[in-house]
Amino acid sequence: MKSLEPKANPHIEAMQAYTPGEQPQGGGWVKLNTNENPYSPSPKAVEAVREALANEGSLLRLYPSPDSTPLREAAAQLHGYAPAAIVAGNGSDDILNLLIRSYAGPGRPIGMLDPSYSLYPVLAAAQGAAVVKVPVKADYTFDVDAVAKCGAAIFFLTNPNAPLGIAFSVEQVIMLAKAFPGLLVVDEAYAAFAGHNCADLPKQFSNVVVTRTLSKGHALAGLRAGYAICPLGVADILHRVRDSYNLDRLAQVAAAAALQDATWLRVTTAKIISTRQRMVEALRGLGWKVNDSSANFVLAEPVAVGGAASVAAAESAFIFLRSQKILVRRFPYHSLTEKALRISVGTDAEIDVLLGAAAVWTKG
Ligand SMILES: Cc1ncc(COP(=O)(O)O)c(C=O)c1O
Repeated sequence: MKSLEPKANPHIEAMQAYTPGEQPQGGGWVKLNTNENPYSPSPKAVEAVREALANEGSLLRLYPSPDSTPLREAAAQLHGYAPAAIVAGNGSDDILNLLIRSYAGPGRPIGMLDPSYSLYPVLAAAQGAAVVKVPVKADYTFDVDAVAKCGAAIFFLTNPNAPLGIAFSVEQVIMLAKAFPGLLVVDEAYAAFAGHNCADLPKQFSNVVVTRTLSKGHALAGLRAGYAICPLGVADILHRVRDSYNLDRLAQVAAAAALQDATWLRVTTAKIISTRQRMVEALRGLGWKVNDSSANFVLAEPVAVGGAASVAAAESAFIFLRSQKILVRRFPYHSLTEKALRISVGTDAEIDVLLGAAAVWTKG
């Protein structure tokens, strides 16, 4: 009997899945490739999970809050909004997906800076939406006018930018919010590590949404929690399309407790920023070309003694570090990143291992 393989929608047949960073199985790796937080999360978040699991997990029988009330209330209090302005997501990737499902589609392109987060085009492809890319310039600025006129229905501004690590100023984002006729999404996945953020803008601009994740600053990547700070009209739209129970009970209570633990965030973030500074200076000391970073990773171009930054040098350093069980990430598809490695800021001990190996590679 002939078996017929069913065909998916043509735009889904044509699309490629997102390629996540490698998650190696087994121990022994210094894992600096997916910008996870090297420290354990707030003990208050862990305690909240324990409480939710009390009585032999009997609460797990029950559906969680459909709209993630505990998380939304904590985020609202933190940022000075009404809970109605917050929409919770199963990681901020879920929020990005909700935004694209709601505001993009055939004839309604998404826009993004190039380079920035490579998930946006995948989510757009799943909705049959075209992608307009506006280049980041060699001096790490972008042309506000070019974004304003790019024709996208929704534009994603990753700030701090990933994978470049640099941050655009609030003034520049405000200029863009005024000039861009569609919905401007400021993806602040790395805001905890930057000196400024745009969390207040949805109060002033009905076309600005700010997205946040608990995966980076709050060390909860394994639970999947994020949220959007929205003008009320946008929040109402996103609630229409999200899954009815898009965050599980454990993620909701852990995220709420983490957001309430400002002391943990301040102390941990200060440690990461201090390690980042040491890492930047040490790599520059080896002769590597390193961006100033406003995130929990550093984009660095390896330069061997007597050599120059090049695609081949980046590949060689990547392979050498991997042979030492140090995982970093390459972005070979863009001229601003092809000669570089993106290296997450780990613990001081992990960064010592990285710096030792980087020195060996540099000296050949
Ligand atoms: C720019 C950017 N936005 C969003 C995310 C997604 O974070 P989450 O773990 O909340 O889905 C990431 C994760 O790496 C990211 O780099």
